[in-house]
Amino acid sequence: MNLKDKVVYRKPVLEDAEEIVAFYNRVGGETTYLSFTEDEYPLDVEAQKANIISTEQQPNSVMLLAVADDQIIGIGTITSGNKIKARHCGELGIVVTENYQGQGIGSELIRQLLEWSKSNGVTTKVQLDTRTDNQMAVELYKKFGFQIEGELKNTTLIDGEYYHLYVMGLML
Ligand SMILES: CC(C)(COP(=O)(O)OP(=O)(O)OC[C@H]1O[C@@H](n2cnc3c(N)ncnc32)[C@H](O)[C@@H]1OP(=O)(O)O)[C@@H](O)C(=O)NCCC(=O)NCCS
Repeated sequence: MNLKDKVVYRKPVLEDAEEIVAFYNRVGGETTYLSFTEDEYPLDVEAQKANIISTEQQPNSVMLLAVADDQIIGIGTITSGNKIKARHCGELGIVVTENYQGQGIGSELIRQLLEWSKSNGVTTKVQLDTRTDNQMAVELYKKFGFQIEGELKNTTLIDGEYYHLYVMGLML
């Protein structure tokens, strides 16, 4: 069976919390492009369970898992606040584990997250930030119509070297 046919995209249930935390802690060590490093994901399993419940209750936030052979291989999120003036803006986050990158999973996660955002009745803008040297991610976001809206200088520091972030946005 080819990969496309075996990947399932779905929202998490409480039983996924442990694997979600382990996944984020692991991929934090696979790439320097995420905002956290290995074992630095801020939620523990109980907090992740609470996050799954509260996300489900919010009309403008969602988590989407990409699952193959019963294992999480990618996660995409839209995170929004509930302040009246800002709740229309969703922050997109995405990661695909390294063995599965470059095979369309990130694209499918974004496609589904944008479809969901368009139909939730609240979100009208999706934004994100990404390191300016994360060429693959920048191209991926541009493919979906995101535009570079600004650049934050020296906001990431790794081994004494500073990196910049693009702020990218898409009006739905
Ligand atoms: C960025 C990431 C989410 C993309 O997911 P993915 O499943 O690997 O991406 P896809 O295979 O769906 O999409 C690849 C797209 O990236 C771009 N791309 C792929 N290879 C590229 C390359 N060598 N150079 C530039 N762009 C490239 C293209 O736009 C491509 O789309 P196309 O195949 O339709 O032309 C994933 O690689 C990842 O998790 N990276 C590490 C963490 C990370 O950087 N997260 C984003 C933080 S902002």
